[in-house]
Amino acid sequence: MKNTLRKFLLFLAIASFGTAVAQKQQAIPEVEALLKKMTLEEKIGQLNLLTPGGGVATGSVVSKNVEEKIKAGNVGGLFGVSGPDKIRQAQEIAVKKTRLGIPLLIGSDIIHGYKTTFPTPLGLSSSWDMNLIEQTAQIAAKEATADGINWNFSPMVDIARDPRWGRIAEGAGEDPYLGSQVAKAMVRGYQQKDLTNEATMIATVKHFALYGASEGGRDYNTTDMSRVRMFNEYLPPYKAAIDAGAESVMSSFNDVDGVPASGNKWLLTDLLRDKWGFEGFVVSDYTSVNEMIAHGMGDLQAVSALSINAGLDMDMVGEGFLTTLKKSVDEGKVSEETITQACRRILVAKYKLGLFKDPYKYSDSKRPKRDILTDANKNLAREAARKSFVLFKNENNTLPLSKTAKIALVGPLADSKNNMLGTWAPTGDPQLSVSILEGLKNVAPNAQITYAKGANISNDSSFAKKVNVFGPRLEISEESPEALLAEALKAAENADVIVAVVGEASEMSGEAASRTDISIPESQKVLIRELAKTGKPVVLALMSGRPLVITEELDLPVSILQIWHPGIEAGNAVADVLFGDYNPSGKLTATWPRNVGQIPIYHSEKNTGRPAPSEDFEKFKSQYLDAPNAPLLAFGFGLSYTTFDYQNLQVSKKEIAQGEAIEVRVDVTNTGAYDGTEIVQLYLHDVVRSLTPPMRTLKGFENVFLKKGETKTVVLTLEADDLKFYNGSLDFVAEAGEFEIFVGGDSNASLKETFTLN
Ligand code: NOJ
Repeated sequence: MKNTLRKFLLFLAIASFGTAVAQKQQAIPEVEALLKKMTLEEKIGQLNLLTPGGGVATGSVVSKNVEEKIKAGNVGGLFGVSGPDKIRQAQEIAVKKTRLGIPLLIGSDIIHGYKTTFPTPLGLSSSWDMNLIEQTAQIAAKEATADGINWNFSPMVDIARDPRWGRIAEGAGEDPYLGSQVAKAMVRGYQQKDLTNEATMIATVKHFALYGASEGGRDYNTTDMSRVRMFNEYLPPYKAAIDAGAESVMSSFNDVDGVPASGNKWLLTDLLRDKWGFEGFVVSDYTSVNEMIAHGMGDLQAVSALSINAGLDMDMVGEGFLTTLKKSVDEGKVSEETITQACRRILVAKYKLGLFKDPYKYSDSKRPKRDILTDANKNLAREAARKSFVLFKNENNTLPLSKTAKIALVGPLADSKNNMLGTWAPTGDPQLSVSILEGLKNVAPNAQITYAKGANISNDSSFAKKVNVFGPRLEISEESPEALLAEALKAAENADVIVAVVGEASEMSGEAASRTDISIPESQKVLIRELAKTGKPVVLALMSGRPLVITEELDLPVSILQIWHPGIEAGNAVADVLFGDYNPSGKLTATWPRNVGQIPIYHSEKNTGRPAPSEDFEKFKSQYLDAPNAPLLAFGFGLSYTTFDYQNLQVSKKEIAQGEAIEVRVDVTNTGAYDGTEIVQLYLHDVVRSLTPPMRTLKGFENVFLKKGETKTVVLTLEADDLKFYNGSLDFVAEAGEFEIFVGGDSNASLKETFTLN
């Protein structure tokens, strides 16, 4: 009886909005019943997302008269507010003071942890540890939901191959295969399998699409690329996140094929919904609908109509939907059905979260104390940080250090809590972070540590002003640069070893933080050069949100440990690695160029018809006159305190049929003096195909822990889909012929095998 009723309601729902997309969606009777009661204005109200200001600011415009707008039924969700009591108040207004009592979505940007801040995402991806990444997302969800939030604007999965772009810090780097694994892990972590669980929240995959390909690495800039490149290299992580169940998508600021993403029907409907089957809701980026006016797409009414007709459901901050859609319906430019459908998607999200059952589900005032910043959460942050570090160079095996060493700890980031969390940590409190100085003292209380700042992050005060918009990150000392340097050299005099914490302030990367010169600022280069001249062992703990140009530093007789912006447990994690309690295992997920002129540079490049025969110059070959083609540090690269050897690469079959998987085996031995983890990587080269193939492209990896002297056979499986690519007709196919595989510890891996696909 019940079933028959449900089927009938489903039939009614389908019949009433009978589009192709609607038919795919499962009608939810509660939502359909509610929609029937709603006026056009109330439906439009649900499409409006506001940020009241006063909380966490993530954009330059904040919404006005938010309370009145909620009461008037003009708001579907809020972001930038937190705390169970505040959220309860907001929900009470929505539930008790509006005609239909529809609760609000409460969004936030929780990019790498909520209050327990993990390393910046590019750093976290360098762990290549999907369980760890999933756990960090799960903890982020637990903390954020304890504070009232039910919808996260993460994961950011934009492929980025241009380190000038500051937002490369926010994603998993250059590679679509790795990026897809990270995207899935994060969605799983945030949403788990059950959105009605009070410790989960909706994930938003962003920024759809191609945002990381902004021309010149300048934020918000134009993008333009072929469809085959899109499908093969840039779209996979978004699709992976959607396949993993992400309930929400955020459109990007840039244009795609000449139409801004927020108003791009091909992107938001043809691809996202019709081809990929996405059933959740699409939110714009911050005022990105309004920004289409500046893009040259028309006035506010025109761009709002373009967006909703393209498939955008929710308008973030700009209020173009709220103020113009009714008019567009009256004028026949937008159908009421289109608005109903967008509203339906937002109501379905609220339903899935369980907000109709209990709008105060995320307003338990006991939870923050219980769930936020717990010791377990902080321990995970420490583990995540140390696994994110990448060892570039260990000069004369300076590392690990003795816990009783005399250490000169110098550099502008050595005692700088304000810079530990990194960019896009608006919900974290920098003052709760462990500075490097504190961490060294915690982990090695018997070491003799002398601290001196040594240099400013930069001596340029106008640059500092731009970096300091969220508070002091780059503070220029009252003392002269010469005096600062003299102090550092004095500290170094009696030391056994110098540890210099140098690099970028947290807001030197991130949103609207593009740089044309991505080297270490000159003020710090002076310090590094002078330290290297002392003849003492020098360790650079290098902090940055992005790949930097460190060609000069790599040439100096110094050791280099890349530590990104490590998050709340920064100092403890750095000390764990410097003193050898953890053997570094991170590997780069974005290529580090020799100079800016090499950009874009990434491991999966093609061969060209005139490949350079070697790094020696030969006329009429694809080479530079003034620099080699090879990057400074390759994708997948990272050293350890121990060494690893690879032998006996084998494939399970030399010939396979279409649809078959193939097993790849290799023996990996820890040949050095420390236990350690190696990230074993598998690269594929499709030798001949209908579209020019990349020379090698990542298709598998595994983290393997090996005790010193131990050998393990690592088995990696190439699935049938791993041999496929999108061809000229955008069909996902594997073409018969020879394949080469390379296995090793970075993208230059030389151990090679071949097989044939029949
Ligand atoms: C703009 C950013 O591009 C986006 O990533 C973020 O989620 C929104 N602002 C909201 O803060």
